Amino acid sequence: MCGIVAYVGNREAYPILMKGLHRLEYRGYDSAGVCVYNNDGLHLYKTLGKVADLERFVEGKDMSGHIGIAHTRWATHGLPNEINAHPHYSQYADIALIHNGIIENYATLKEELQKHGRSFTSETDTEVLVQLIDFIRMDNGISLEEAVHQALSQVVGAYAIAIMSKDDPYTVIGARKGSPLVIGVGDGEFILASDATPLVEYTKKVIYLDEEEIAVMTVRPDAEPTLRVTNLKNVRKTPLVQTLETNLEVLEKGGYPHFMLKEIYEQPKVIRDSFRGRINVERNTVALSGIIDHQKEFLSARRIIITACGTSWHAGLVGKYLIEELARIPVEVEYASEYRYRHPIINKDDVVIAISQSGETADTLAAVNLARDQGAFVYGICNVVGASIPRATHSGTYIHAGPEIGVASTKAFTAQVCVLTLVALSLAKAKGTVSESRFRAIINELYTLPDKIEKTLLLNDRIADFAKIFTYSRNFLYLGRGYNYPLALEGALKLKEISYIHAEGYPAAEMKHGPIALVDNEMPIVVIATNQGNYEKIVSNIQEVKARKGRIISIVTEGDTTVKALSDFYIEIPPTEAMLVPILACVPLQLLAYHIAVQRGCNVDQPRNLAKSVTVE
Ligand code: F6R
Repeated sequence: MCGIVAYVGNREAYPILMKGLHRLEYRGYDSAGVCVYNNDGLHLYKTLGKVADLERFVEGKDMSGHIGIAHTRWATHGLPNEINAHPHYSQYADIALIHNGIIENYATLKEELQKHGRSFTSETDTEVLVQLIDFIRMDNGISLEEAVHQALSQVVGAYAIAIMSKDDPYTVIGARKGSPLVIGVGDGEFILASDATPLVEYTKKVIYLDEEEIAVMTVRPDAEPTLRVTNLKNVRKTPLVQTLETNLEVLEKGGYPHFMLKEIYEQPKVIRDSFRGRINVERNTVALSGIIDHQKEFLSARRIIITACGTSWHAGLVGKYLIEELARIPVEVEYASEYRYRHPIINKDDVVIAISQSGETADTLAAVNLARDQGAFVYGICNVVGASIPRATHSGTYIHAGPEIGVASTKAFTAQVCVLTLVALSLAKAKGTVSESRFRAIINELYTLPDKIEKTLLLNDRIADFAKIFTYSRNFLYLGRGYNYPLALEGALKLKEISYIHAEGYPAAEMKHGPIALVDNEMPIVVIATNQGNYEKIVSNIQEVKARKGRIISIVTEGDTTVKALSDFYIEIPPTEAMLVPILACVPLQLLAYHIAVQRGCNVDQPRNLAKSVTVE
């Protein structure tokens, strides 16, 4: 979603702002804008389209200066157009502001401001905020910082903002509530951004702003840079400077045509990283500190509730199967957006597991806060270190997948499932619901997965070849049973989000209760038919499809003959435990979606209408 970059320091601001916006492009956006200050005042430009369009628009203009703010907007209030794009000026163009999030009471605030003679050019809630700050400042004759404090105390909703003013061209003010902001502390400079990606090449020293904190960053020519952090109640805070682990390499495509493909290929390493230091093969143990330190809460839990959105929800569904099979604890899986509003029953002996790659998904964060407020123990499984969800949970585990730039989640899914497998194993061990030999067999098999994924990746060309045949298909059905059912959902989601082909995932046996009506000789049906558990049953489901002339694309275990004979196309993956198939079989599903989307000429890394980090509900 929207991206924020702001700079104040001893270097030229504009190139840093633009590079920062490019780094944030992965989040998804529809328009972009920038404002810098130089000798003759604030200079603000915005445009519909991409950051490159903004650069072209600004070409030839004087963009010199040591302070500026820049933004990519993902429309919420008002159409995506140049007028609604950020930054927004206050009435007399004294202040410029950029904003992520939603000001829920903007209509009331706007009405009040209009009564005081303020007029508005855009349809946005953001313009209301900048006008409010300016109005308070002028009406009371107070500083911009004080006005920001007072204005934000009147605001209901979520925000991350960056503000600059022509009266003090050495200061950027940032503030957050419900939407992340991180400050990079450089040598004589500060860079403020909505995530750490724009900071990586300038500094390793970062400060994650906390909820309701306001940061005032000042770099004057002949003085030491200063950073003042207060909260909304005006209490001074001591910011914690942390070291950024990410390096530049992981933010580049590294020779791949798309980030998505790069991230698919990173999965063997990601899986190794996700269990590095957590499995002890000799001692036959799994150690996740987030669980060890809170074993009491997990072992006395009457049930576990997993909450998440999208792909993370699919990982959660695999997690339910894993935890119920291995640790014998009942698990419910909830869409965070439903859970937070449907007055759920939350008991003090419930454990809630929130899964989120970005750690910023607004609905998942709200579900976490709800569960906490009602006394449940909340555990997070996240990727982005220091994000809002890991900070709001009681404990948790990072998946260590590294930055995921492609909007479609790939490596985060496999790493989430890997961590959920470790969670299930460590609970099973502690509860004594799994034998030593079974435990050993599973962890030994886990260790083989990176190599098996490498082998599966060798099928890329073959998958790219037959993807061509399905470029113009209008609908797809994905079927699976048991552990492969969540995978069918995930395969369908991957295809629809990046290729815009309609696709549905179904439990294979449910097909006869409706979706079978869709099957004809044009309908491709992807069946995950690895040879465990319900193999005969899925063979029958395939027969049912064949009888209606559907075109079968199957994912089978090496050596399979039955399903292969029934398939129009097949992909063979190495044998593994049924519970680990989702980690392995998602790879060809990702590649299939990827190649179909590329064939169709879609923007694979930034699909239309989608955002990487969904910070609004
Ligand atoms: C799909 C996808 C989304 C996310 C969902 C949750 O490829 O990326 O469905 O999984 O928006 O995001 P996180 O995991 O960041 O909470």
